[in-house]
Amino acid sequence: MVIGVISMIDTSIFMSRRSIRRFQQKRVSLNLLKKCVDAARLAPSAANLQPLEFIIVTNKMVCGRVFEALHWAAYLKPEWRPMISERPVAYIIILVKDKTSPWYLRDVSFAAGTIVHIAETMGVGSCILCKIDKEIIREILSIPQSLLVDSVIALGYKAEHPVIEEASSSVEYYRDSNGVLHVPKRKLEDILHINTY
Ligand SMILES: Cc1cc2nc3c(=O)[nH]c(=O)nc-3n(C[C@H](O)[C@H](O)[C@H](O)COP(=O)(O)O)c2cc1C
Repeated sequence: MVIGVISMIDTSIFMSRRSIRRFQQKRVSLNLLKKCVDAARLAPSAANLQPLEFIIVTNKMVCGRVFEALHWAAYLKPEWRPMISERPVAYIIILVKDKTSPWYLRDVSFAAGTIVHIAETMGVGSCILCKIDKEIIREILSIPQSLLVDSVIALGYKAEHPVIEEASSSVEYYRDSNGVLHVPKRKLEDILHINTY
């Protein structure tokens, strides 16, 4: 009975979400983006300190400026970035207001994970970016020095559909001759241990 219930649980959002780096130039509503942040607000937080704040960017000109501070897909050579016709149409910037907790970066990870999966449930693709020019973002968005600029989540409706494959020797993603991104993932049996290592 329990096994029956477990097999009915829909994990497809978690299994099929991939980082998206090519986007349709269709607007994503502010309401949808706010829902992502509202869910992140309720994500687990060490000592419940809730040290994070968020900035949503949808303004086209500001999006253009934020784009210049981002670095994409380091494994792809030569250096790759979305073309102007496939850039993200929105961003959520994650800020750390209170660094008291030694685990604040884990709070960031839960928040980012929540945002990308909530966006995915609403059909919106995303990519977490940590390789970013933080001081440029601070200046563009007038972020006070007292807050840490942690990461950027790029968002938009998907204009690509990456596929996963079994990782063998390399975990490096690559684009095939059709431009499809292949993302190697380690096998369950290679990472899971039951009761003992
Ligand atoms: C903490 C973190 C930082 C990341 N930083 C970048 C980044 O700066 N640029 C980028 O293009 N992708 C970035 N990514 C996306 C990863 O490359 C991506 O998650 C990984 O290749 C696995 O692909 P998947 O998300 O489709 O499963 C980051 C992901 C995480 C979790």
